[in-house]
This record gives sequence, structure tokens and C-alpha cells, in this order.
Amino acid sequence: MNLKQIENLNKKFQNSSPQEVISFFLTKYPDKIAFATSLGIEDQVITEMIVSINKSVKIFTLDTGRLFQETYDLIQKTNSRYKINIEIYFPDTKQVEEMVKEKGINLFYESIKNRKFCCHVRKIESLKRVLNKFDVWITGLRKEQSEIRANDKLIEWDKLNGLIKVNPLIKWTEKDVWNYIKEKNIPYNSLHNKGFKSIGCVPCTRAVEYSEDSRSGRWWWENDGHKECGLHKR
Ligand code: ADX
Ligand code: SF4
Repeated sequence: MNLKQIENLNKKFQNSSPQEVISFFLTKYPDKIAFATSLGIEDQVITEMIVSINKSVKIFTLDTGRLFQETYDLIQKTNSRYKINIEIYFPDTKQVEEMVKEKGINLFYESIKNRKFCCHVRKIESLKRVLNKFDVWITGLRKEQSEIRANDKLIEWDKLNGLIKVNPLIKWTEKDVWNYIKEKNIPYNSLHNKGFKSIGCVPCTRAVEYSEDSRSGRWWWENDGHKECGLHKR
């Protein structure tokens, strides 16, 4: 698919619901589409939407080895609620062992370079491995989440991984997401009831004040405003 076709699809779906967008791509790319979930609130909404259309779509998560027990509990709960099997991918053992041997188990606190390296080894490499087999991936990105994400589009060409990326909730607000979760009684991470907004790995996530923005609890010791793990290269 070329950039012009992507632009046309963005126009075609500019006023469509997330379900209409998801449905279009599931139908057009039945065996070549995968949904990446971090079990965040957006991802839980998308899981519900996908499962309502087709239960056999590939849904996967990248386990960094440093996730919260509450996130593992939610994987189980979501699987039993929707009778699905979220596939779990792990990083390459050798790469993790070498990284830790060379830079230490808590390398991420030492520099942004180390932190990005850890995200690379524990997430990005596994993502590449999964996406290799697909033509489209779905994510839970929203514009409101950060200044960088404000420029993201509903449908994009993911240059790094060489496939189409679809962000069905791109225009939703945090309130829209919570309303949908409540309305459909969708399971969510119990850490949200303890002040956590965006949830990633244990050592790199903390609870925030109600008024703080949604990603401020991620890599909180870094003060540049462009905190991304690199899964979503622009
Ligand atoms: S991150 O880049 O800071 O980690 P964030 O947690 O906001 O991203 O999640 C944005 C989207 O990226 C999620 O909705 C999901 O589609 C994808 N994603 C992030 N982390 C993971 C993960 N561990 N496994 C699978 N998908 C993920
Ligand atoms: Fe490593 Fe932290 Fe990135 Fe998780 S979020 S992969 S622990 S640097």
C-alpha cells in the first residue's frame, strides 16, 4: 500500500467509529492482521471491539520480564472473560543476559541511552519478530496521550516494520475510554484504582496525582517531554 492509498483511507474513515475501522481491516486482511496489547485501558477497549467481531484475530503482548503481577492477572482475566488466548512474546534470552551482564540489572536508571537500549532488547526486538508475519497491526495510541502522539493518524505506514498501522482510538479522550469501559463492564488493570494511569514495566512506572498527565508516571526520572519506548517510531 502506498502513501496516497493511506491518505485516501484516512479521508474515507475520518468520521467513522473505531468499530467500523476495525471491521474494515479485519475483513480486508483476515489472516494478516495482529493487535498489540499492553493491557492498558485503550487496549482493553480494542480487545472488546475485536472480539465482538471475530474471536480468532491474533492478539499479542510483549512480556518484557519486568511487568506487574496485576498485568499478568489481567491477561488471565481477559482471556477467561472473552474466551481468547492473548499470545505472549518474550525477549531473546541471550540478548537480555548479555545486556544485564554488561550494564547491570537496573541499567535504565543510569541514562536515557541505557533505558532505550533496555526497551529495545526487551520490547522492540520482539515486536519486529512478531510483525514480520503481518501486513497490518492495530494499536491503542491516542492523540491526547502526548505532544508527539498528537500528530499520529488513524492509519499510518509503519516505515520501521514495513506494514500498515491502525490506531482506531486515535481521536478518543481518556474520558471516552473510561466511559466505554464502564458501559461494557470491561476488565481493567487494578493498578488504575491506585493512581496509576499509563502502565508499563514495574521499575519504570509509578502512580501519579489525579491532575498529572497520563504518561507522567512512565520513566518519571527523565525530564525530556518525549518519553517513548521506541515501539512507535515516527
Ligand atoms: S509505550 O510506547 O509507552 O510503551 P503505551 O504503553 O502508551 O506505549 O502503549 C501504546 C500502544 O503500544 C498500546 O496501546 C499497544 O498497542 C502498544 N504496546 C505498548 N506496550 C506494549 C506491549 N508490551 N505489548 C504489546 N503492545 C504494546
Ligand atoms: Fe526496560 Fe523499563 Fe523499558 Fe521495561 S520500560 S523495557 S524495564 S527500560
